[in-house]
Amino acid sequence: MTSDDRTSVAVVGSTGSIGTQTLDVIAADPDRYRIDSLAAGRSLDQLIEQANAVRPELVAVGDPSLEPALRDAVPAGTEVASGEEGLAECARRADITVNGVVGFAGLPVTLAALESGKRLALANKESLISAGPVVQAARRTPGAELVPVDSEHAAIHQCLRANDVDRRVSRIQVTASGGPFRGRSRDELASVTIEEALAHPTWAMGPKITIDSSTLMNKGLEVIEANELFGAPAGDLGYGLTLDDIEVVVHPQSIVHSMVTYSDGSTIAQLSMPTMMLPIGYALAYPDRFPVAYGTIDWATVGRLDFEAPDLEAFPCLALAYQAAEMGGTAPAWLSAANEVAVEAFLKGGLAWADISGINSETLEKHDGGTGLTLQGVLEGDQQARHHATELLRRAGS
Ligand SMILES: NC(=O)c1ccc[n+]([C@@H]2O[C@H](COP(=O)([O-])OP(=O)(O)OC[C@H]3O[C@@H](n4cnc5c(N)ncnc54)[C@H](OP(=O)(O)O)[C@@H]3O)[C@@H](O)[C@H]2O)c1
Repeated sequence: MTSDDRTSVAVVGSTGSIGTQTLDVIAADPDRYRIDSLAAGRSLDQLIEQANAVRPELVAVGDPSLEPALRDAVPAGTEVASGEEGLAECARRADITVNGVVGFAGLPVTLAALESGKRLALANKESLISAGPVVQAARRTPGAELVPVDSEHAAIHQCLRANDVDRRVSRIQVTASGGPFRGRSRDELASVTIEEALAHPTWAMGPKITIDSSTLMNKGLEVIEANELFGAPAGDLGYGLTLDDIEVVVHPQSIVHSMVTYSDGSTIAQLSMPTMMLPIGYALAYPDRFPVAYGTIDWATVGRLDFEAPDLEAFPCLALAYQAAEMGGTAPAWLSAANEVAVEAFLKGGLAWADISGINSETLEKHDGGTGLTLQGVLEGDQQARHHATELLRRAGS
């Protein structure tokens, strides 16, 4: 292959956990992929270092005030952009966009990639959860393709490929490690610290998703994500599943990344060691397979695989996600926005871990019935939910 034949990739959120791992995965197959653009939020020094190492065509920074400093420090001839539009531009040009932005801020990237008829390798689950109908419409753009990077959804994507018809799928089992607090009661969780919540037993990830894993909000968001990705009518964008068909199974070893059960009772699972490099490589190479074996299982060390039901009383955020998905419209956007506000407050020491679910549930109770069929409706819903959640925090003295 000459360099011109290589698949161009935009790595958006390049300074984060997913972004840096994506750069490593791409570096492992340089004859096949080239990085067309890099983008991040505010970590200017790291972004400049990456730009000088990788030499992309375009570099974008989320915070527009940082654009002049970025421009001064990137290699001569590199295009520089900023703000939402700058991030979206990265996604419009590349053959594949890896969206590794955290939170609702990733929505313009998700939409730009799909509306340009390109492949979106989606780690940024919040955009799909908050703007379900808008993203579904964008997925219908000719050429557009969404390949999930979230390990559970990448696993489901692979399990679904084991079947050669797009029906006869009866259930999906989304696995959950259970996080650092698995086995503890609600009372025992009253005074956990930030350090304890950030100490995930099996995955090394960015702070927001790590806290979401500790509350099981992440698993709840993943149920909504699975419903968006695979729940639509069979033969359309999905497999005709309902929320009741999407079940959460706690599996502490994080080896089985999710499962699909077919109408004859047969269950297909995807197994590998817990590393995001595998699903990132999968989303880049699909329908091919990435040539490097990330996450190969050493069966002698694994020893055993355990499964149990989640504790909905100790971890109420999981049930809240089902509730929001059932409510539909902008309810998932409200829940996700409230959760972003609550997690940020917790990480700053302004909210107890046990009160994250309260902020989320009280915000969800205020949902105004918004349908979220338009981007404007989604943006307004997100803003309203943030306003309510912030007000709840203020009243609680946080
Ligand atoms: N990490 C994992 O293993 C994992 C697994 C599955 C799914 N995911 C999902 O992947 C996404 C990223 O997670 P992560 O763990 O990689 O997060 P992270 O380590 O916190 O990185 C987040 C990235 O997003 C960028 N960013 C934040 N706010 C931004 C904004 N307003 N505009 C533009 N860029 C912004 C950050 O840039 P700066 O730091 O420069 O501000 C950084 O590059 C999340 O949706 C998460 O749920 C992650």
